Amino acid sequence: MSDITTLAELLELVRTRIEAGLHDRDAAARLPVLATRDAEGWPSARSMVLRDFDPGEWTLDIHSDADAAKVLQLTDAPRAAIQFWDAEVALQVRMRAHVVRLPHEEEKALWEEVPDDARARYGAVPPPGTPIAAHDAWHPNPRPARFAVLRARVLRVEALHLGETHRRARFEREEGWQGSWLVP
Ligand SMILES: Cc1cc2nc3c(=O)[nH]c(=O)nc-3n(C[C@H](O)[C@H](O)[C@H](O)COP(=O)(O)O)c2cc1C
Repeated sequence: MSDITTLAELLELVRTRIEAGLHDRDAAARLPVLATRDAEGWPSARSMVLRDFDPGEWTLDIHSDADAAKVLQLTDAPRAAIQFWDAEVALQVRMRAHVVRLPHEEEKALWEEVPDDARARYGAVPPPGTPIAAHDAWHPNPRPARFAVLRARVLRVEALHLGETHRRARFEREEGWQGSWLVP
């Protein structure tokens, strides 16, 4: 890929690579890492499937069991980091986001679109992360009440492009995404 010389070009690259994550199973942004903070203040990071992206609003959607630790952590403190490394275009994307659940009615409508075989992910008994006496001492009990749609409203994007020359920049929602260069 040719060298990136403008902030607009770099932000556009980020946007198109996140979009690729929605449509291309092999694109890196299909599986971003979402980092939260646990009750003791430790960072807690996990891979998630990107389910939706609004490039105008800069919002990303992910789906989770509503009783999973991440949902409870985000209910307490809706701050998260989202990161992916896109080797195809030599781009690291780090984002800061405010993450909240969608209103119940919207979650219920989206639940209707979840294929039957995928519904089993939402409603484990006991809830995800519970210690169990044997590997199979749990069962799925899929139900819409346990389907959480988390919407991440991106506040900051930091991009590192490892091109011929390394380029690093930060873009802030508050500043209208105009961006500024950083030392790589
Ligand atoms: C490839 C991959 C994709 C995953 N996608 C999701 C997902 O879309 N939603 C989800 O809740 N967990 C997903 N997980 C599981 C999470 O990484 C994590 O183990 C789980 O959500 C429990 O995290 P928590 O206890 O911190 O909430 C995925 C894991 C892998 C390895």
